[in-house]
Amino acid sequence: MKIVCRYFSGTGNTRRACEALLGELEKSGHTTSIGAIGKNAPSEVEPCDCLLIGYPVHGFNTPSPVLKFLKSLPKTEHLPCYLLRTSGEPLKFNDASGITPKRILKKKGYDVMGEFHYVLPYNIIFRHSDGMAARMKLGMELRLPDDAQKIAHMQRFRVKCGPLSRFVSLACRIEHTAMPLIGRHFKTTETCVGCGKCAAVCPQGNIRMTDGKPKFGKSCAGCMGCVFSCPQDAIHPALFESWKVNGAYTFDAPPATDGEVCRYCNKAYLRYFHDGESMKR
Ligand SMILES: Cc1cc2nc3c(=O)[nH]c(=O)nc-3n(C[C@H](O)[C@H](O)[C@H](O)COP(=O)(O)O)c2cc1C
Ligand code: SF4
Ligand code: SF4
Repeated sequence: MKIVCRYFSGTGNTRRACEALLGELEKSGHTTSIGAIGKNAPSEVEPCDCLLIGYPVHGFNTPSPVLKFLKSLPKTEHLPCYLLRTSGEPLKFNDASGITPKRILKKKGYDVMGEFHYVLPYNIIFRHSDGMAARMKLGMELRLPDDAQKIAHMQRFRVKCGPLSRFVSLACRIEHTAMPLIGRHFKTTETCVGCGKCAAVCPQGNIRMTDGKPKFGKSCAGCMGCVFSCPQDAIHPALFESWKVNGAYTFDAPPATDGEVCRYCNKAYLRYFHDGESMKR
């Protein structure tokens, strides 16, 4: 079977999750291919037996470039498709982010068979400890063999979503309109060394280097890739300044113990793993 994956990822979590799931499928003899979604990424999808769409949850929704990409897909007849999302919190509200992509795909003739959800460290609001990042990654890895088998056997499984989640998600969809406006007000400080890393990581091609300094355009999707990746921590993300997270997680620190307490909410990290090692469905 050939599985084609297209993903949107600001800070690498979703890309890592998609690559890991495809890796499992390859181990059992399937052929896979992977590519990014973004303003300058190709919109064509090569012929396949199954499509996997990866995205990070943004404000209980799917990021707008993903919806745009799905709308650009050609019509098909019952092509099996799975969604894979990552989020920073194990909240049920996040499940509502699947509603719009499922609706678009169904209209185009795709058969959405199921939705995978992995909780991976936050790239906005607060920084998890590296130990927690490592444990989240382990939690994901424990589930991958089963999840790959679901795809291999074309298993159908539903994620239920209540009215409150739908309402919260709908209310937060304002992010799609607000982000391009907020993104235009991102600024850099004098510590910027003009390395161009922010422009290189931006999936929207929204950053142009002008006279050695980044200039932010009108296509920001709020993925925080630029802010997270800047080696100088030189980007002020306008309204998101107090929620800024800068610097990559290592993922190979000793995994957090059940008793480790989150620096942000002062609750034990165990709440992330209320159902087995992770959000097992
Ligand atoms: C603008 C924005 C909004 C987010 N909203 C949510 C959210 O509603 N729920 C959640 O659990 N995580 C949220 N997150 C966290 C990301 O979903 C999470 O860190 C994800 O794994 C990032 O994936 P990426 O590295 O592929 O971009 C948000 C992140 C950003 C940047
Ligand atoms: S990544 Fe940071 S230091 Fe490099 S150009 Fe962008 S803002 Fe400047
Ligand atoms: S400008 Fe920054 S936050 Fe906006 S889409 Fe590009 S990398 Fe993401």
